[in-house]
Amino acid sequence: MNQKDKMEAIISLCKRRGFVFQGSEIYGGLAGTYDYGPLGSLLKNNIRDSWIKTFVHDVDNMFLVDAAILMNQRVWQATGHVDSFIDPLVDDVVTKKRYRADHLLEEHGIDANVMTVEEMTAIIQEKGIKSPDGNALGPVRKFNMMLETKVGAMEDSSATSYLRPETAQGIFVNYKNVLDSMSPKLPFGIAQVGKAFRNEITPRDFTFRLREFEQMEIEYFFHPEQPWEAMFDMWLEKQKAWLGSIGVPAETLHAYEHPDTARAFYSKKTVDFEFEFPFGTKELTGLAHRTDYDLGKHAEWSGQKLTYFDEEQKKHVVPHVLEPTVGLDRAFLAVLTSAYREEGEGENARTYLAFPKHVAPALCAVSPLLKNKPELVAKAREVYAMLKQEFGRVMWDDNANIGKRYRRQDEIGTPFCVTIDFETLEGENAGTVTVRMRDDASQKRVAISDLISFLK
Ligand code: GAP
Repeated sequence: MNQKDKMEAIISLCKRRGFVFQGSEIYGGLAGTYDYGPLGSLLKNNIRDSWIKTFVHDVDNMFLVDAAILMNQRVWQATGHVDSFIDPLVDDVVTKKRYRADHLLEEHGIDANVMTVEEMTAIIQEKGIKSPDGNALGPVRKFNMMLETKVGAMEDSSATSYLRPETAQGIFVNYKNVLDSMSPKLPFGIAQVGKAFRNEITPRDFTFRLREFEQMEIEYFFHPEQPWEAMFDMWLEKQKAWLGSIGVPAETLHAYEHPDTARAFYSKKTVDFEFEFPFGTKELTGLAHRTDYDLGKHAEWSGQKLTYFDEEQKKHVVPHVLEPTVGLDRAFLAVLTSAYREEGEGENARTYLAFPKHVAPALCAVSPLLKNKPELVAKAREVYAMLKQEFGRVMWDDNANIGKRYRRQDEIGTPFCVTIDFETLEGENAGTVTVRMRDDASQKRVAISDLISFLK
């Protein structure tokens, strides 16, 4: 199966089985937005929980915050987002459709990473590059990606706010609050998971490039004199190990270090993990050394002291930061595409999602072999209640016949199906159930009394 077909099959499975729907679908959609359905929400939540466990609970001196999406407009003036959070935009002069100029150039093998808009315009003219519809392109312009809104009843400029384009600034503006309330010693981190918004010129590739998405970010503050290289490598390894734990194989990840010319001027080093998505190898995570740029700017604009008192040196310092970041929607897509399997032919053909157990929307499904046999249903309900109480992520499934149930549970990535059959009720196998394994379709009889430890 080629990669394009694979992507189409995944998108169709997502809709058919309740993982992801087009945003505002009954009104024809809204570009760059997707809604997560019942199973997609559970999968996304499990990925988020796993990130919080790995990057917050399992790390010393890590503090989670949940800042407001709407922030004082001066936050974004201070960081430079108002002036320079821009993408290069170009119009098709005939259809008026808009494109990312750097993406069009990339499709012609030209790396526009470090080019100014004037340079992009010149190269488009020189090479006679046309729009995807074959028309001439206008001059390349700067387009600010922040989504502006008004807060309160006043309509003047003081009411201007923005839907935050990154969660990171909600962390920096709370640096002092966390320091004052938790009294951490350097190095320490502040983590945040939440929505971010960017008015992307060309949202595309399913949940890869969205206008509304979710980020999971950390700012890890350390003493400016502390050597940072080993710490940087540690975070890089941690990101890779976490991706591995949620089912994204290391061999599908490629570290990309931003060259000096393409890096933000304040960053000492930036390394992304790019993942082999079916539509190309593209950015999944980032890790940046942001120096003291953000704290410095917020101190300057807010007039507040955003320093740290070093007891040993008896002086105030401005910490530097390392910033590991990942988009939750991209992680979701990487997990989904890594888990997707098709095997067998004809009647034996099956599709399954080989999610690791802790990220699968349901750990197991419980079924009576036949739903019109009250004695089977009663026993199955008992087993279901027991497992549900223990694991929570347990599904009741009595739709259609057992073969179809297995196919459906395979498609939604449920690792185990537990079936209560006649043998459960009497005979030498009384008190046992059939457990069917998703990955190799094998079956095993397990005593109900051993079921919880078996599934664990
Ligand atoms: N605070 C740093 C920052 O925001 P970024 O590389 O612009 O850096 C971080 O974004 C991560 O957020 C990316 O690695 C990506 O996973 C995710 N992301 C960025 N833009 C996105 C979009 N339009 N749709 C979905 N995810 C996005």
